[in-house]
Amino acid sequence: MTRRLAAAALLALAGAAATGASPLADYQRSVDDARRRWTESPHGPLLERILPPAFAPAQLPQPASRGAALVVHYCVQCHNLPNPAMHDAARWPKVVERMVLRMRGRGNMGELMREMMAGVQAPSDEEARALLAYLRQNGQRALDPRRYPDVDSPAAQSFRLACEQCHVLPDPRRHTAGEWPGVVARMERNMQWMNRVVGSQRDPREPQLRVDEIVRYLQRHARAG
Ligand code: HEC
Ligand code: HEC
Repeated sequence: MTRRLAAAALLALAGAAATGASPLADYQRSVDDARRRWTESPHGPLLERILPPAFAPAQLPQPASRGAALVVHYCVQCHNLPNPAMHDAARWPKVVERMVLRMRGRGNMGELMREMMAGVQAPSDEEARALLAYLRQNGQRALDPRRYPDVDSPAAQSFRLACEQCHVLPDPRRHTAGEWPGVVARMERNMQWMNRVVGSQRDPREPQLRVDEIVRYLQRHARAG
């Protein structure tokens, strides 16, 4: 087993000890199944890179809640554990709907999904509703352009182009000025992992990833503290 997996297991164990409820064995079985699929399937490298390994079960909000348990049970069968804060409440329903269809064998990726479906468990309608409610409740808040009219200014262009590729533009007040550089650095790693690198080609016609400019914009509007 890789060191990363061992670390994830340890974190999950810590969560279980703290809350008395995190179903570690269940999680580890699902993760192992997913790893096996990644190794056996020619599409493995693609599946592994759908979501970054940014997150362990003990880091989920309310790790002892039923919603967290459902995410841990169902959402690591094909890719790494999703962070509820990745999408806002408006975006999650469409994403979850797409995932539930897949788990029920009616996904839209034909061959790839058929091959992977063996052994994949699907939530009931009631479980799917609870899962969605948990994700929406812990989602991120989208930037409201009425509150930040300067988001259309040239100073925010880099931020707009880079940070809207995978999810809604985040509300700058989500983090303090001290926190933002670390979050943006993690997003750079997410972009590498998910293979969506802005500006890596050094093509003069393509927008470059101007990290300084992005951090400056976020810090200008950051939460005090
Ligand atoms: C049967 C396999 C499978 C399961 C189980 C699964 N996913 Fe996915 N997921 C995929 C595939 C394939 C993609 C990439 C294609 C796409 O985005 O639809 C993906 C992509 C994603 C993405 C990134 C794309 C986006 O729109 O942001 C998120 C987030 C996600 N899944 C969340 C979840 C959640 C939450 C669950 C549990 C409710 C889940 N997934 C369960 C197969 C699965
Ligand atoms: C390649 C896809 C991708 C791009 C581009 C991207 N993100 Fe993310 N973002 C993610 C994923 C995946 C998560 C959930 C995992 C995590 O938190 O690292 C996330 C989560 C977040 C969160 C919620 C979690 C937290 O710590 O608050 C914020 C805020 C965020 N992103 C900000 C940004 C900013 C700012 C940019 C532009 C610099 C950006 N993202 C660009 C993929 C991306």
